[in-house]
Parts: sequence; C-alpha cells; structure tokens
Amino acid sequence: MKSIIVYYSYGGNTKRIAEAIHTKKGYDMVEIKPVVPYTNDYQKLVDEEEGKMHQEEVVEIEPINVDLNSYDRVILGTPVWWYTMTPPVRAFLTKYDLSGKVIIPFTTNGGWLGSTLDDIKKYAPNSSIEEAISIKFNEDVLAISENELNSWIIKL
Ligand SMILES: Cc1cc2nc3c(=O)[nH]c(=O)nc-3n(C[C@H](O)[C@H](O)[C@H](O)COP(=O)(O)O)c2cc1C
Repeated sequence: MKSIIVYYSYGGNTKRIAEAIHTKKGYDMVEIKPVVPYTNDYQKLVDEEEGKMHQEEVVEIEPINVDLNSYDRVILGTPVWWYTMTPPVRAFLTKYDLSGKVIIPFTTNGGWLGSTLDDIKKYAPNSSIEEAISIKFNEDVLAISENELNSWIIKL
C-alpha cells in the first residue's frame, strides 16, 4: 500500500501532526493551499466562518502537485471549523476523485468534532474511511498524550 499525507492547516497544529507522520513513516506529503489565503486575524476568521460554513463555503485550491493515482491510501488532515472539515479540504475531496482508495482522516480540534467524519464520508462516497483519529489541542498545545498520538502514527 502506497500512502500519501494530504493536509490543510491554518494555524500550524495540523501541519505539526502531518510532519510527525511524515518523519516517522516517511510517506510523501502535500499541503492543500487555498488560492486566496484566509485573513491573518484569527478572531475575524472565526467570526466570518461561522456564517459561511453553514452555507458549505466553496473555496478554490491550488492544484496538488502529485499524481494521486499512484497512491492507495490518503492520510487526510484537517482542522475542525464550525463542527466540520475546513473548506479547503472539502474542495480537495470535490476536486480529486479518491474512489477505491482508503482514506484515514486525522482532525485537529478544540474538542468539538461535530459531523466532521460523516461529512468526509459524504464527500468521498466511494472511498473506504478507516482508523480516524481526533487530536485535541488547547490553542497550540497538544491535549492528548504523546503516547496515544505516537501509537496511532506507528500503526499507520
Ligand atoms: C474558524 C474556526 C472554527 C473552529 N471551529 C471549531 C469547532 O467547531 N470545533 C473545535 O473543536 N475546534 C474548532 N476550532 C479550533 C481548531 O479546530 C483547532 O484550533 C485546530 O487544531 C486548528 O488547526 P490548525 O492550527 O492546523 O489550523 C476552530 C478554529 C477556527 C479558526
């Protein structure tokens, strides 16, 4: 099974987990980048997104610079925004067909996952979703044990 890590990160938490997987497992890694970057003002982002997320905000993302056809598994990282995946990750699932592949989601969040995993399933109906992990942060401090995180990574 050939695996690739694909993630979006606004503030760095999800990037940190993606990099930990990359370092421990050596899997290829790509970052999803919105064409128009989000505001640097965190509070403004939180306020603006509350309304937009309810309308399933559509954003454009930069093309992914790898041939996803050559991978069997996508380890997919997203922060949770307003109880679901971030719009750039939804854009990735809309733009790229992951039919027949395994998706292993990892979500970083403040403890409120909402419908994130169900929504990922909805946007990747022909993929098999496995072994998801929810990684809680208190702001930028990891709030699950390093052991729990590492043992999940090792099993990947
Ligand atoms: C716009 C916005 C909405 C958020 N909504 C949620 C939420 O619904 N539930 C939750 O647990 N955390 C929520 N958070 C917190 C983030 O999921 C958490 O800080 C995450 O680790 C950030 O990842 P990043 O640093 O990779 O961007 C939200 C953060 C932002 C910026």
